[in-house]
Amino acid sequence: MAVFVTGDTHGPEKIGWHSVDGFIPRLNVRNFPEQRELTKDDLLIICGDFGGVWDTNRERFAESSQEKYSLDWLEDKPFTTLFVPGNHENYDRLTGCRNEALLAGWMYRKMPEEEKEKLRRGYPRELWRGGFTRVIRPSVRMLEPGVFDLDGQKCFVYGGAASHDIADGILDPVNFAEETDFQKAYRKMVDSGCQFRVRGTSWWDQEMPGPEEEKQAETALEAAGYHVDFVFTHAAPLSCHAALGYSHAGRVNRFLEDIRLRLSYRHWFFAHLHSNSNLPGGKDHLIYEQILRIC
Ligand SMILES: [Fe+2]
Repeated sequence: MAVFVTGDTHGPEKIGWHSVDGFIPRLNVRNFPEQRELTKDDLLIICGDFGGVWDTNRERFAESSQEKYSLDWLEDKPFTTLFVPGNHENYDRLTGCRNEALLAGWMYRKMPEEEKEKLRRGYPRELWRGGFTRVIRPSVRMLEPGVFDLDGQKCFVYGGAASHDIADGILDPVNFAEETDFQKAYRKMVDSGCQFRVRGTSWWDQEMPGPEEEKQAETALEAAGYHVDFVFTHAAPLSCHAALGYSHAGRVNRFLEDIRLRLSYRHWFFAHLHSNSNLPGGKDHLIYEQILRIC
């Protein structure tokens, strides 16, 4: 079995947001020729900002035609894709919408209750190789915080990060009684050149893991004796984040640093910063477009 790792695969920016299908240019045979020799037993791990589940359908719990095409394309590949969630993911669809005010408001007015129930649940949750996953396709899975046994390699996984492209804030549909009011405010922010995102459409609260996810991670690490082979995260531990010259650190960076100081590991791969860099010491790696074979 072979294991490969790569960084963010979400698509190009579109009016400051992100589109689906960025993994098609990354993972085609020309860029990733090793796949000619692979089978579904071989793994590709994406360190966050997968981007394949992005669009908000206001009437049904369903993939858009572009998403369906892209995810089917990935499912047809001769390897299994695992992704750590990043900050730019549609968490409401991936892991279930918890925002009842949003579900009750104008945005989901046309969605039948049975479809809202599906949206509350997200993709099917399944225990797989030691940790919980969300099954997007039989061989395309999102990894929740935990320690996974990938062919004898113990791998700690922890997704999430703080978005930095929201300098002018988050526009919340819940604050508007009708869509027309929301659209006026939205247009005003666009015309003013604001850098913002919309809750439930291009930004989700769940991008920042909280105490529940931290507990899930700690429980798994305790069971593993704080000893793993590999670590895959979207955000960087605080010291790595700072060493790379970034100052906007948050709760996730601090939590990961706390873990890093107690954890024995061979290599730690993180993404989010859209660059490639090996940190001094040779164990910590910022990864973006590269596709590295790690075992
Ligand atoms: Fe990204």
